[in-house]
Amino acid sequence: MSKRWNVAVVGATGAVGEVMLAILAERRFPVNEVYALASRRSAGSPVQFGERTLRVEDLATFDFRKAQIGLFSAGGEISAEYAPKAAEAGCVVIDNTAHFRYDDDIPLVVPEVNPGDIARYQARGIIANPNCSTIQMVVALKPLHDAVGIDRINVCTYQSVSGTGKEAIDELREQTQAALAGTALPGRVYPKPIAFNVLPHIDVFLENGYTKEEMKMVWETHKILGDSAIRVNPTTARVPVVYGHSEAVHIETRRKIRADEARALLAQAPGVVVLDERRAGGYPTAITEAAGQDAVFVGRIREDLSHPRGLDLWVVSDNLRKGAALNSIQIAERLVENYL
Ligand code: A2P
Repeated sequence: MSKRWNVAVVGATGAVGEVMLAILAERRFPVNEVYALASRRSAGSPVQFGERTLRVEDLATFDFRKAQIGLFSAGGEISAEYAPKAAEAGCVVIDNTAHFRYDDDIPLVVPEVNPGDIARYQARGIIANPNCSTIQMVVALKPLHDAVGIDRINVCTYQSVSGTGKEAIDELREQTQAALAGTALPGRVYPKPIAFNVLPHIDVFLENGYTKEEMKMVWETHKILGDSAIRVNPTTARVPVVYGHSEAVHIETRRKIRADEARALLAQAPGVVVLDERRAGGYPTAITEAAGQDAVFVGRIREDLSHPRGLDLWVVSDNLRKGAALNSIQIAERLVENYL
């Protein structure tokens, strides 16, 4: 019988943790035990793992010697404290927070792009899962970068509230209901109303005027594509969508690529589905294509009117799945297949 693994899901009651449990069951990851971990507040409460109901355990008292794989998604501070402890106990951590992503000795992996980097997990026993908006962008850009080289990326994102977590989903729902009833409800999570609005702000502001979410897209694109010469200029925005991030990606390539060539390359690319019909509705959107699905959907592929080597793309994916839980589990699948 092939080997089975004990997997700990840290943040199992959260927006990403729930999807991690669902995808582990859906993809029949070879589990023996699954431990659902969260804060003491949630200890004893039920979470679903496929048909089974698991009881949440308190992360603070969990013995990581019981697990070989830890999927972490409970925030950077929790990972900072517990991921090294888990790794020390022999549990390989796949961390969905930004905490370790930029450390040179921590691999940052998108399996369709740089699967070979998983081999470097042994240095610290931790593999970082990239930011949701970076993952879907690099899955779409990898085949184009391989073919003609990307010199510059201008990207604007339209990111759903589930990327912030469950409280943000509640805030959008409550504010939307209140607004429809004619009242304005102040926010707890976002600094301005998110219902019927767009906020050009994700994560904290940095000294250079960009937000940290924007700089994550710069740093992570360089690290995952292994090419720090690519110039990246992001604007990240939060929109009143629950599941699925959309991105308008404008690239300037080193050699010219025609739209039909790009479309053909993308149609063959792993993890990508092209939906690019030049008619009303012939493009992917968060609700109609991305939510609940695994692929990165690409549409609106066209040559940039304003630049001889410019190409425009519209890229949409489920931020909780490919942007977080699915990518982590795809890393885990390769880890157990090739390295453990
Ligand atoms: P809990 O539900 O017990 O607070 P989201 O991203 O949807 O906001 O979810 C965050 C996840 O991180 C939840 O599962 C939450 O558990 C978990 N979490 C938050 N703080 C802690 C903590 N101190 N210890 C363990 N898990 C935590």
